[in-house]
Amino acid sequence: MLEQLKQTVAFIESKIKNKPQVGIILGTGLGGLVKEINIQDSLGYESIPNFPVSTVEGHSGKLIFGELGGKQVVAMQGRFHFYEGYTLQQVTFPVRVMKMLGIQTLIVSNASGGVNENFSVGDVMIIEDHINLFPSNPLIGKNYEELGPRFPDMSEPYDHTLIKMAKEIANKNNIKVQSGVYAGLSGPTFETPAEYRYARIIGADTVGMSTVPEVIVARHMNITCFAVSIITDLGIYGKTVEVSHEEVQEVAKNAEPKMTLIIKELIASI
Ligand code: HPA
Repeated sequence: MLEQLKQTVAFIESKIKNKPQVGIILGTGLGGLVKEINIQDSLGYESIPNFPVSTVEGHSGKLIFGELGGKQVVAMQGRFHFYEGYTLQQVTFPVRVMKMLGIQTLIVSNASGGVNENFSVGDVMIIEDHINLFPSNPLIGKNYEELGPRFPDMSEPYDHTLIKMAKEIANKNNIKVQSGVYAGLSGPTFETPAEYRYARIIGADTVGMSTVPEVIVARHMNITCFAVSIITDLGIYGKTVEVSHEEVQEVAKNAEPKMTLIIKELIASI
């Protein structure tokens, strides 16, 4: 793994002009942020040695380097999901690469189903904590001390300062934001009514199929993390209705301007 990492990083470094400070995983609802980046270099995933290739509808695969809010950023346009058949190590490989390229901060977005009764479709939620409901953990196996400790601390998975700053930015711009706990699970099925209720009972506010593996690996390497989620549907007991991928994409698209503004200003104020 370390050899592969070094090979990938050396390849990318030979192609880019500037070292990135901030990494961004452009999940559902943040695709439009690309338009705000002054792009300097762009690498298709298929051209990068050892990189997995994205397959899911609505996600294209590119690593984009450029300037945003006065910072050098690297943005993943298209992410890898466990449900596509990748291992959690493959899903999180790009996070390790971004760390070795120089990032200190990781910003992630996703779409999720709200299980908190106070949430509405289209709400943006700042992720304050998570519950790992994936059937595994990306750090299982040999630990690479060069990357991080065997037993990483997870007492502050999402950075309190960035959360506070994002809430202030939202307030200032009259954007209503929720905050809460994201439960990450494998998918690809959406949840049954009983599973949504289970997520609520164990302390989740939303459920989704990403982010948790990436944040675990980022925290292992001591990267500061921030994540936001768009509530695209509700899994509230007694009110659960049919969900589709198309509907998720549609709601996310409408919430995109709110997310983009928050992230852009947050990066500028880091
Ligand atoms: N469950 C899991 N993942 C999701 C959902 C959901 O309800 N909505 C968007 N991603």
